[in-house]
Amino acid sequence: MKSFKDKVAVVTGAGSGIGQALALALARQGAELAISDIHEHNVAETAAQCAALGAKVQHFRLDVGKREAIYAHADEVAKNFGRVNLVINNAGVAVNATVRELSDADFEWLMDINFWGVIHGTRAFLPHLTASGDGHVVNISSIFGMIGVPKQSAYNAAKFAVRGFTEALRQEMMIERAPVGVSCVHPGGVRTNIAKAARKGASDANRDLGVLFEKLAKTTPAKAADIILAGVKRNEARIFVGADAKLLDFMQRVLGSAYQKIIGPAFERQERT
Ligand SMILES: NC(=O)c1ccc[n+]([C@@H]2O[C@H](COP(=O)([O-])OP(=O)(O)OC[C@H]3O[C@@H](n4cnc5c(N)ncnc54)[C@H](O)[C@@H]3O)[C@@H](O)[C@H]2O)c1
Repeated sequence: MKSFKDKVAVVTGAGSGIGQALALALARQGAELAISDIHEHNVAETAAQCAALGAKVQHFRLDVGKREAIYAHADEVAKNFGRVNLVINNAGVAVNATVRELSDADFEWLMDINFWGVIHGTRAFLPHLTASGDGHVVNISSIFGMIGVPKQSAYNAAKFAVRGFTEALRQEMMIERAPVGVSCVHPGGVRTNIAKAARKGASDANRDLGVLFEKLAKTTPAKAADIILAGVKRNEARIFVGADAKLLDFMQRVLGSAYQKIIGPAFERQERT
């Protein structure tokens, strides 16, 4: 996909952060937009901003943790717009808790959104993307889909799984010579609401994770969106967002599993501050 002009783009989790920035960037580049979020008020606000930029846009309340809702959404978007070219499975949540602290309910909540939301979002739209003759799937993993980190076991599990799923799909599309590009995105820290909205275990009950995250996350959502869309145009298999993501990926490739000897102690120091 060399240009987004007149392409129909679907973005989940577009009420905030990276998803909102992607919607706005796509609007500026002439795409037609079907954007959704579990928080309808927020995605309506994003839609108003996209419309002000001159984009044709429809917004939807969608919980990506609900399989039937995603399939119904795919059919509705295809019907309303007549085609679908780009799907960005972006909606995501975080849980900050050790494996011991993590409840099954929180683990399942995260997997339903960060894992199943991406799988269903891909599979529901794939026939429409193929039919468009110029389709692309973008699945948002994380740098935590490349390295494991304490208190992120559920998030790591989902984001590693998204990477595996997406890399397999990309090869299948190539073998089939299907007109569908596939990219997996690995952001480092992007200054969004994700940490503030995160669920947390008992050891973090009195910590403001949002404040800590603000210090660590260097990339703005707008910059992240620009990097992601440039990567899509080049049909990149892996799109790294931010110098931190590139550095951590380099570290795990050079050190192999020994990266854990660096990340673990660095995390421990961070916990004490
Ligand atoms: N911010 C970062 O540092 C960072 C780093 C790596 C990966 N990511 C990933 O980027 C994606 C976007 O996150 P963000 O940082 O913009 O966070 P954010 O919290 O600002 O935005 C996430 C959006 O997803 C929506 N959402 C949550 N649950 C949903 C559900 N069940 N159905 C539909 N929408 C739902 C939220 O309402 C919110 O609008 C996520 O997949 C996240 O894991 C973020």
